[in-house]
Amino acid sequence: MINNIANSVKELCQHDSSGHDWWHIYRVVNLAKNIGSKEKADLLLVETAALLHDLDDWKLELSDSENLPIARKLLAENGATADFIERVLTIIKEVSYKGAGTKTKPSSIEGMAVQDADRLDAIGAIGVARTFAYGGYKNQPLHDPNLKPTLHNSYEDYKSTRTSTINHFYEKLLLLKDRLNTKTAKELAVQRHRFMEQFLEQFYAEWNLD
Ligand code: NI
Repeated sequence: MINNIANSVKELCQHDSSGHDWWHIYRVVNLAKNIGSKEKADLLLVETAALLHDLDDWKLELSDSENLPIARKLLAENGATADFIERVLTIIKEVSYKGAGTKTKPSSIEGMAVQDADRLDAIGAIGVARTFAYGGYKNQPLHDPNLKPTLHNSYEDYKSTRTSTINHFYEKLLLLKDRLNTKTAKELAVQRHRFMEQFLEQFYAEWNLD
């Protein structure tokens, strides 16, 4: 089942240039399994949910993130039981970041592992690279000193506000280290967080050269 699902996911995201390509999925699967094994989670559930976590995401505008039709269909086609499908879909719904003022703690240890893995891949050097790729995909400016970051209090706000890629660090990325669930992920986040702070420092130093 896992191999078939992985092959389908690989095919579906092969043309992605928004930072949600197959290698993002691959990294999240490995990180989630690593975290999950330390936290004694059900690793089949963790791996399946990690593989499918971005297929129906609102950010990619391909699908419906409430009903997750693509993930649901792939699971059913590959013989997953109704109970397993519901558990995977619950994890996927709980993974997504919904703005600074919105709490999103998953209800299971498997969900925590997948959410932590996805968040770790959003920070550090890979996070910086993916953030600028996503900003380009959304036609956002790299940085505009006149656009100030906003800490969104609702999911709707977070989805609709126009921003710059540099602002995204303040609206999401720098907040992630304090919104991780597991001890393993918190340890992995320290170095990645520090790297983003150094990146921003250097970015402003170059920007303000005059
Ligand atoms: Ni993701």
